[in-house]
Amino acid sequence: MTTLHDETEVVDVSDPRLTRFEIVKEGARRDDIEIVTYESQFHGTDSKAEKRVARNIALLFIIAGIAGIAFVVFYIAWPWEFELGDAMSDYYTPILGITLGIALFGVGFGILAWAKKLLPHEVSIQDRHNQPSSDEDRLITGQTIAYLGDELGVQRRPLLKGAIGLGLAPLGLAAAAPLIGGLIQNPHRDSPPMMFSTGFNSAFNDGKLVRLTRSDGTPLRPEDVSTGGQLTVFPGIPGGATNQWADSPTLLIHLRPDDAEAARKNADADPRNKGSMWGDYIAYSKICTHAGCPASLYEQQTNRLLCPCHQSQFNITDNAQPIFGPATRRLPMLPLTVDDEGFFVAARDYKDTVGPDFWERP
Ligand code: FES
Repeated sequence: MTTLHDETEVVDVSDPRLTRFEIVKEGARRDDIEIVTYESQFHGTDSKAEKRVARNIALLFIIAGIAGIAFVVFYIAWPWEFELGDAMSDYYTPILGITLGIALFGVGFGILAWAKKLLPHEVSIQDRHNQPSSDEDRLITGQTIAYLGDELGVQRRPLLKGAIGLGLAPLGLAAAAPLIGGLIQNPHRDSPPMMFSTGFNSAFNDGKLVRLTRSDGTPLRPEDVSTGGQLTVFPGIPGGATNQWADSPTLLIHLRPDDAEAARKNADADPRNKGSMWGDYIAYSKICTHAGCPASLYEQQTNRLLCPCHQSQFNITDNAQPIFGPATRRLPMLPLTVDDEGFFVAARDYKDTVGPDFWERP
């Protein structure tokens, strides 16, 4: 135990004979801090008990390091692309969460154990005061911080020093992995590129135009949607109504004749939507351009489509321009036509990219 005495005389802290701890004591005294107790938790340095605690803490850092490395390996190697059914990709997110969680817990508990079990116990009392710091005080503060570094004992505990490196370096790598990984994966390597295609692309249907279907896969004729009505439709391809094609849900709306006329006028005035309506029918992507919620609350009287998540509203008769809320981009329009058997098909895939903005969106 180190006992500190009350001292009234001013100590010259630039005296080179003073130890770091004596400068710390002086600093505490000048700050009106009374150190009541300051004692090691062990008898002597490098005792058996201390070594055992250091080993346990090292183990925690090593576990954190192994979990961090596992995170990076799983991030790179585990199959992540969505597959129908019970697939390995189902476990991609949980496995990343578990490994990263273990890594963070390892580092957190390691630091906690270090503070609680290894550092000396100290009880200090300080009076409050308001004064600007003098140069001397700053020198004392610097020495105090350096002293605390010494007290952590990293230098004289090489096992812990190595374990910290082993634990924290992979954790840093794990934190950087999603950023670096995003730069390594090429979103354009598929043909057609998945980021810019939906299930309505005929390339996913052996080159044939893709039908608009209900969620059970049955195709739709124009008479299936009454005037003023709307229906959520999906691409008529295998798994078209599943999460595999989560960007494809589309809202098919049968407008009243007057509204359809206004909508066609506006659509035809826009080079990307020109000729996209079929009769009085119009179809928009259901994926909100703000953050990707389903924008599906159709207000027939005002011809507005409302997204329930953050209240964005889109004007159906004017190319689904956003007129309220946080969305700034209109909903893409799906070009419609009818095939030889009288069923709705997509004349082509969406010309605009569906969903929220991302950094490569044209
Ligand atoms: S996701 Fe639609 S308004 Fe935010």
